[in-house]
Amino acid sequence: MNQDNVAILGGGNLGVAIAEGLLSNGRYEAHNLFITRRNTKTLQGLKEKGLTVTSDNKEVVKLCKWVLLCVQPNQLEDLLNEIKPYLDPERHILISVITGVSIQRMTSIVGDSFPVVRSMPNTAIAIHQSMTCLAFNEKSIEVKESVQEIFDCLGSTLVIEEELMAAATVLCASGIAFFMRFIRAATQGGIQLGFDAEDALKIAVQVSKGASGLLEAHNSHPEQEIDRVTTPRGCTIAGLNEMEHQGFSPAFIKGLVTSYERIQNMKK
Ligand SMILES: NC(=O)c1ccc[n+]([C@@H]2O[C@H](COP(=O)([O-])OP(=O)(O)OC[C@H]3O[C@@H](n4cnc5c(N)ncnc54)[C@H](OP(=O)(O)O)[C@@H]3O)[C@@H](O)[C@H]2O)c1
Repeated sequence: MNQDNVAILGGGNLGVAIAEGLLSNGRYEAHNLFITRRNTKTLQGLKEKGLTVTSDNKEVVKLCKWVLLCVQPNQLEDLLNEIKPYLDPERHILISVITGVSIQRMTSIVGDSFPVVRSMPNTAIAIHQSMTCLAFNEKSIEVKESVQEIFDCLGSTLVIEEELMAAATVLCASGIAFFMRFIRAATQGGIQLGFDAEDALKIAVQVSKGASGLLEAHNSHPEQEIDRVTTPRGCTIAGLNEMEHQGFSPAFIKGLVTSYERIQNMKK
């Protein structure tokens, strides 16, 4: 078994994005990447790029050390039961991207001794800009660096305790939708101030890239960057204070907390 071989079981939105990201990053060769789904028609593009595309999960598991589980939550149990006879805790590492399924739930099917990783990426994985939170069990922590190396090809990674996975689902995966809504609001405001829709969106997108780029480059806090653009009695502070009077920060935080509470209720 080639130690670099990666199996992606479940070639849907996320599975395909991961495959494309790993290939284009250059860290993995096409012959290292194996992707499955029951109906492989939509994976022809990956096949043409040299990846192994198949419906045969068992054959793929035999060849790959890293086994990424990318199916829907209700499809996981069947998949794990199907590959279980071919899994070996000394040879394989299971990495799940599946929302809401605990490590304990997975080891209850494949065995307590199995190295299992839970990951929470977001849809920006398609452009290698995912924020991926990773949680490990006692066995998988031994290969932490190697797992991070896989997801670092697809953006940034952060290792967290598993109990923070629901919070990661909100801030990291749903976060894409929350930040999109922020950009949409900026665009709508821009149109009201006189820009046409296309220009307003272009400006809002570049400004949000610039804002996050500044935080990264300066390793600074948002308030430090805000101080640089606010002058006493100026237009920026007037706008900021009005946003806060209208409840901007509390509304955003309440949205995150409501989303988190929904996950907790769904678990019950
Ligand atoms: N989208 C996000 O932002 C996001 C973020 C974090 C985590 N997630 C999680 O990622 C997982 C996948 O999401 P997605 O959006 O990629 O879903 P998706 O597009 O529905 O992909 C799931 C894929 O699994 C395949 N599949 C089902 N059973 C299979 C089996 N036994 N063997 C092989 N392939 C099988 C399905 O294809 P066939 O029916 O043809 O087999 C389908 O292509 C979900 O569990 C989700 O919770 C998603």
